[in-house]
Amino acid sequence: MTVTSQSVSAAVAVANLDDLPVGESMTVDLPGQPRIAIFNTADGVYAIDDTCTHQDASLADGWVEDCAVECPLHEACFDLRTGVPNGPPAKTPVRTHDAQVVDGHIFLTPSA
Ligand code: FES
Repeated sequence: MTVTSQSVSAAVAVANLDDLPVGESMTVDLPGQPRIAIFNTADGVYAIDDTCTHQDASLADGWVEDCAVECPLHEACFDLRTGVPNGPPAKTPVRTHDAQVVDGHIFLTPSA
């Protein structure tokens, strides 16, 4: 999915919640931002940078359990709330972004 809004400093509507069932993920491309992955979990909707900080893998393709996603390449798990990996091989957190659901729409506010 590609979002073409020119304003990314404020919340941007990126999807309908109905299009992202619990347990599923999607990616969005916003101007001036690295690709962002959005996850719908039983605990809510979370957004983090899509690219793993270890190598070039898409976290949106990873396995989601509770509030964590397991990288599909080398299996480091990132906490969706904090972006912090649980251990090697990834050492650096991914950026987190604010994701809110309002009236059935997912709004994303990218981190600065
Ligand atoms: S690419 Fe994600 S843990 Fe290696």
